[in-house]
Amino acid sequence: MRVAIIGTGYVGLVSGACIADFGHQVTCVDKDSTKISTLNAGEIPIFEPGLEDIVRSNLKERRLAFTTALGESVRDADAVFIAVGTPSRRGDGHADLSYVYGAAREIAGALDGFTIVITKSTVPVGTGDEVERIIRELRHDADFAVVSNPEFLREGAAIHDFKHPDRIVIGTENEHAKKVAAEIYRPLYLNQAPILYTSRRTAELIKYAANAFLATKITFINEIADLCERVGADVQEVARGIGFDNRIGPKFLHAGPGFGGSCLPKDVRALIKTAQDHDVRMRILEAVETVNDTRKRAMARKVSWAFAGNLRGKTVAVLGLTFKPNTDDMREAPSIPLITALQDMGAAVRVYDPMGMEQAKHVLADVTYCRGPYDCVEEADAAVIVTEWEQLRALDLERMRGLMACPVIVDLRNVYRPEDVEKQGFAYACIGRAPHNKFCF
Ligand SMILES: NC(=O)c1ccc[n+]([C@@H]2O[C@H](COP(=O)([O-])OP(=O)(O)OC[C@H]3O[C@@H](n4cnc5c(N)ncnc54)[C@H](O)[C@@H]3O)[C@@H](O)[C@H]2O)c1
Repeated sequence: MRVAIIGTGYVGLVSGACIADFGHQVTCVDKDSTKISTLNAGEIPIFEPGLEDIVRSNLKERRLAFTTALGESVRDADAVFIAVGTPSRRGDGHADLSYVYGAAREIAGALDGFTIVITKSTVPVGTGDEVERIIRELRHDADFAVVSNPEFLREGAAIHDFKHPDRIVIGTENEHAKKVAAEIYRPLYLNQAPILYTSRRTAELIKYAANAFLATKITFINEIADLCERVGADVQEVARGIGFDNRIGPKFLHAGPGFGGSCLPKDVRALIKTAQDHDVRMRILEAVETVNDTRKRAMARKVSWAFAGNLRGKTVAVLGLTFKPNTDDMREAPSIPLITALQDMGAAVRVYDPMGMEQAKHVLADVTYCRGPYDCVEEADAAVIVTEWEQLRALDLERMRGLMACPVIVDLRNVYRPEDVEKQGFAYACIGRAPHNKFCF
């Protein structure tokens, strides 16, 4: 099967490399010529564990190619995936579909023979209809079907997720298109990944409903964490206690500084907007969005609490910047509003992240970038753990204690046990576990 992928970002690149690894002939296309040259030179523009190996081996086997030439790739393809970005539209929070529609127009010009156009980007319900209309308007003669095939991979575990999905959703009523899609995913089907065939509109909505539910689950446990702090309960044990219930499940019940990343915030926003357009109010999601937005900035108060609410003149070391470990993605990372809030309170901020520093430089101003976690905490008045990178889970606390001006750790991911940290002479604050010692410097 010959496959073209339009958009070679996190999703396009991972999908392209994995589909090539299934044995198909894949061309990944992007407008960004620097990205394409980097890939053609064998370098990977993003950090994603395992991706480099799979890209290199498929380039070597000549199953994978990178180009800026959309027309040629589409002309030769049996299936064309649209994997371009759908960020929040500035000003109103709707999904910005200009990249998807732009790609559809370019694809239309090049279609040759029966082709399925598969939307992998996360798009509001009804977008497939519009993509079909755009292509039909430009090419009355074209033989094509538009399919929705939302992607559920997680950054940081993207290769595993693509190759071992919980399910594959194929939204189309066109029998020929179903067969082509099934052929692309045949290796996964042999691995018994469930394939759900449904209508295009339903497939589009499944993706938003899934992300909105996950966002709700995180926000729920975050509010329970706040209550735990007030009443002297432990949110991690509450999460375990409810997670054992099969109806609830243990995942996405880790209390923290609020969800961020390239998907959940924008998808919650976009679903609220889609619903409004159809005269439906998503009250739960409106609450999720507000609670989450205020939470990220509020985390700065956990730091100021150690200093009687006054951070002016203090230096805060922020450990971990990306929205989660094992990615360099800084999109809507909770570290960003947290750092702004710390700066607004008068603190100087030093930062370290194992992989995200380059991306962070595009979004964080007036911070000091440090070489490692110990360099970062030197002479700092407080260290804040924002992302639970493996490297930050087992810091040498004694060494940190010796380096810091003031022994304060604020652990927004609950990676340490309060008694261990306190034994080393630190004042320690965390999420949803009642503080063992009250402190104020
Ligand atoms: N990142 C994730 O974890 C994830 C997971 C599931 C779904 N999604 C969805 O997948 C989509 C893509 O997300 P991403 O994170 O990979 O985005 P991204 O911003 O990393 O990549 C998009 C790429 O598309 C390219 N592009 C835009 N228009 C183009 C065109 N006309 N022709 C060729 N290239 C074009 C851009 O240059 C960019 O490289 C989004 O809708 C997102 O919501 C993302």
